[in-house]
Amino acid sequence: MGPFDRLKESLGQYSRAPIGIVPTPLQAMRRLSRHFGRPVYFKRDDLAGLALGGSKIRILRFTAGDAVARGADTFVAGGYAQSNHPAQVAAAGAALGIPTHVVLDVTKGYEPQGNVLLLDLAGARVRFTSAGSYEGVLAACRRLADHLARAGRRPQIMTQTHESRVLSAVAYAEAFVELAGQCEAVGVCEADVVVGSGGPTCAGLLLGAVAAGRRCRVFGVPPRGRGEGAREQVKGFAAAAAAALGVDAVPQESDIALLADGSGVYGEVDRETIAALRFVAAQEGVYLDPVYTGHAMAALLRRGGPSSNGRPLVFVQTGGAPTVFAYERELASRRILHHAFVAPRIDRAARPSPRARGTEFKTTRRSRRRRIRREVYR
Ligand SMILES: Cc1ncc(COP(=O)(O)O)c(C=O)c1O
Repeated sequence: MGPFDRLKESLGQYSRAPIGIVPTPLQAMRRLSRHFGRPVYFKRDDLAGLALGGSKIRILRFTAGDAVARGADTFVAGGYAQSNHPAQVAAAGAALGIPTHVVLDVTKGYEPQGNVLLLDLAGARVRFTSAGSYEGVLAACRRLADHLARAGRRPQIMTQTHESRVLSAVAYAEAFVELAGQCEAVGVCEADVVVGSGGPTCAGLLLGAVAAGRRCRVFGVPPRGRGEGAREQVKGFAAAAAAALGVDAVPQESDIALLADGSGVYGEVDRETIAALRFVAAQEGVYLDPVYTGHAMAALLRRGGPSSNGRPLVFVQTGGAPTVFAYERELASRRILHHAFVAPRIDRAARPSPRARGTEFKTTRRSRRRRIRREVYR
């Protein structure tokens, strides 16, 4: 049996939580294909059917499935306030009837918007920390899990443990199997696969591609601030997932290709990313996110694609769009921002009150005041 068949067979041994919708669609992007001069497809993991979609849903099918199989009755998750992961854990918990406790680090800012709003709507119990690092958040999750265990619960930490990250790579090896079948169905045998990750997501896709005989090349794009050690992480998680699956297809150093160095500050958005996100939204009506997918698309646009040999390009749309609502100041056009934040102040002095104007104007004085307050306290 070849490594790809072995991979497919081994995937069958994992328990999966019955959440989300997979396979996610492989969608041809007509206008982007014209722009790049070669066929462009999006693997729509942002349509994974829970919590407004995203890669974590695919991963949670494995990690939550594993937690439930071990008898967990409570999920604990943590991250920065706008992290995609806790919001998706909260939604998975809701769908499985498992209470979710979340630790949010607010040192990179806090807005009751985007993912924070989503996890609150899904009923997660939230605590805040100013730990300022993933290690600090994880330590806070451990303390919370201990506290819950003392209260008689059986909590499972869902965030960034080594085991959960190896399972994430396994989930994305399965995503590659799914993708390979969909590519074959549309007559694509070889492709450049691009993903906004320098971690387990990229590692899993790479393992799948190597097991399938390297006809597809996988390119990872680590987000800003996550470049250091990204190559080692991709290699390490691919090897760990290969070992867990019993697949003899460990990616070599030459298999690892990253399209950006991941320099900068995690969570900060740069001009190129803003332009890329706006470009894809205006071309195809698909919303990328400011940290992962928008950044990956920026790297692609900069290079015109990883190679110019006409090979089809598959962009793995891993989601994250809820965060656009927390980055409105960076992403919105000047005209829209001006009207929201600056014009009302000028208007207030110069114009009669909205009540006196009747219903002619859509914004009320109260809503304008609220917006200005938001601006001041941000
Ligand atoms: C939207 C999105 N895409 C991609 C990733 C990549 O994850 P990793 O680099 O851990 O594989 C993440 C992780 O948080 C994410 O939220």
